[in-house]
Amino acid sequence: MRRRSLLALAATPALAPFLIACGGESAARVEVFTWWTGPGEGEGLDELIKLFAKANPDIEFVNAAIAGGGGDQARAVLASRLQASDPPDSFQGHAGAELADYIDSGVIEDLSELFDAEGWGDVLHPGLMENLTQGGKIYAVPVNIHRANLLWTNPTVLADAGLEPATSWSELVEQAEKLGDGKIALSIGPLWTQLHLLETVLLGELGADAYAGLWTGETSWTDSATIDALDTFTAVLGVSDVAQAAADWQPQLDKLIDGTAAYSVMGDWAYSYLATNKKLAYESDYGVVETPGSAGVFDYLSDAFTLPAGAKNADSARAWLRVCASVEGQDAFNTKKGSLPARIDADQSLYTDYLGWNMSQWLDPATVIVGSLAHGAVARPGWKTEIETALGVFVTDGNATTFAEAVTAAYKATSG
Ligand code: GAL
Repeated sequence: MRRRSLLALAATPALAPFLIACGGESAARVEVFTWWTGPGEGEGLDELIKLFAKANPDIEFVNAAIAGGGGDQARAVLASRLQASDPPDSFQGHAGAELADYIDSGVIEDLSELFDAEGWGDVLHPGLMENLTQGGKIYAVPVNIHRANLLWTNPTVLADAGLEPATSWSELVEQAEKLGDGKIALSIGPLWTQLHLLETVLLGELGADAYAGLWTGETSWTDSATIDALDTFTAVLGVSDVAQAAADWQPQLDKLIDGTAAYSVMGDWAYSYLATNKKLAYESDYGVVETPGSAGVFDYLSDAFTLPAGAKNADSARAWLRVCASVEGQDAFNTKKGSLPARIDADQSLYTDYLGWNMSQWLDPATVIVGSLAHGAVARPGWKTEIETALGVFVTDGNATTFAEAVTAAYKATSG
């Protein structure tokens, strides 16, 4: 009742500004939706929130993050909010296929005007811009470039066993029996981390070109090379702790930190956990190399922020996007988050130890860039979900042919 009468009074032009100011119902706010809640994720987001508060002291920041690495839980919540026409003011999405799906379904706004006004087209990585553009319009502001094909190591466990980091997946499998009692070769987490592992095994076994062809229909899932690679994945799982898989990626890495495991495959948000959160030292406490067979290849993904259609606080959302796109924002965020800046004019001297190594590879013109399956770059969400479901079965039964056939059928069914 109170709300109705206030609204009625607000219709009186002379009273409206006063009532809005007093009622607080239209106080400036921005609701930002991510899955960056856990240790090593939250720290990066906090940097952006701090900068946002400094630049926009009158806008309340509402952190609508939903827990769960990889974002499966968050995307499910987001989908139901979008379905109910209750979007947050900005949400996190992955450049490439995932964003393309949001664009096609009309749930995010064209940001071309904002990009033109701010001149962002000139300072953001051109390849990345392509993955956020459709029909000449650009739909999201990228904050970073993450790398997926990384094998994190426990240097002490390897040294004690007299081992160097494996350069092929079969070598990694062979190394397992040389590790001491009670040690596992590879720690693993929930299904999305298994999908992430699968993409790196496919990349290492098939090579960059054939890997890229898996997402365009040019590489067959059912031919013998792919089936062999899938069997290698099963062998790799055989030297992992999949039967006692960790509940999320941080506990997965805890097994690396405490020396239970020699290796773990994870994107470079692992850096944010190991270095930013746990304060461990690069190369002595933890090491990192390309996943076996993928030297010279950069399996990329990028987090980008959107302006959903029907956002209640679109101006505040634009203010948020300005912070995300700024050099200051990108440098503060990425040096904590373990990613590289999407801007080409960021301060490179800030990217040291692992980040320095990774930056030089990203900038090397000889590096081959491919996109991540597990993190939205290459497969539309409909297909990716089907792959993940089939993977749940494959991990249990090890039947590569059944899996390959399911993936192929799902591609046909979802690629319209
Ligand atoms: C990815 C996301 C990264 C990181 C990771 C773990 O999908 O792009 O920024 O958050 O999940 O949660």
